[in-house]
Amino acid sequence: MEFIASYKLRKILVSKNKIELAENFLELIEESLLKVKDRNINIALSGGSTPKDLFQIIAKDYSAKLDWNRVNFFWGDERCVSPDNDESNYKMANESLLKPLNIAEENIFRIKGEINPDEEKNNYQKLIAEKVYLENNIPCFDIMLLGLGEDGHTASIFPNQMELFNSQNFCEVAVHPDSGQKRITLTGRVINNSKDIIFLVTGKSKSSVVSEILRNSEESKKYPASFIKSENGKLIWLLDKDSASLL
Ligand code: 6PG
Repeated sequence: MEFIASYKLRKILVSKNKIELAENFLELIEESLLKVKDRNINIALSGGSTPKDLFQIIAKDYSAKLDWNRVNFFWGDERCVSPDNDESNYKMANESLLKPLNIAEENIFRIKGEINPDEEKNNYQKLIAEKVYLENNIPCFDIMLLGLGEDGHTASIFPNQMELFNSQNFCEVAVHPDSGQKRITLTGRVINNSKDIIFLVTGKSKSSVVSEILRNSEESKKYPASFIKSENGKLIWLLDKDSASLL
């Protein structure tokens, strides 16, 4: 594991391959489990395609590495589709990670993409306020896994919807700027309240946006991902060589 820089309370880890990326991620979960003794840890998963490889490697080769019974799974965002839809972040995680690891139903807290978005936004807001440890009266996830879009979005907070980032709510309804697809997303208030915030970003197509953000460029100031900072812990960039190639 190559360690590039640790500044401004952020750490950048560049992995040479998918196995090392998975091991880096597992080390962070292990650290979190060691820190928290009196309860399960709460992880919010990211969606999209990037995490799928990571989840499959973990499920295949590392099922015995951690006490998975002590991990509760939530989501940072979800598409407003049914849980059996190929677009569903829950479906991707369930098939690649949760089912293969035999995660108990009671440890899985999915966003119900199949019901009315405004209704589910309120439901999920209540759920995380009830189930997740609170810090400053805001749900404080032990691990917040985030992806990064080429346009600098993260979770489902898009550049033209920064009001969702700054919302006083814990969850909001977002609209994908291209497809018009509705989504439920955690807001910046919750994301930044997490202990460990982990950006998981791979592939050449993300190298430019990663470089812009990590260099704090003028261009990056319109990216929601640039406003992610951990109020209560660490911000970690888990990259591969391709996504880190312009650093
Ligand atoms: C989603 C995400 C989103 C994703 C990025 C990167 O629901 O799509 O949570 O924030 O992480 O768009 O997506 P890829 O991994 O597919 O590039």
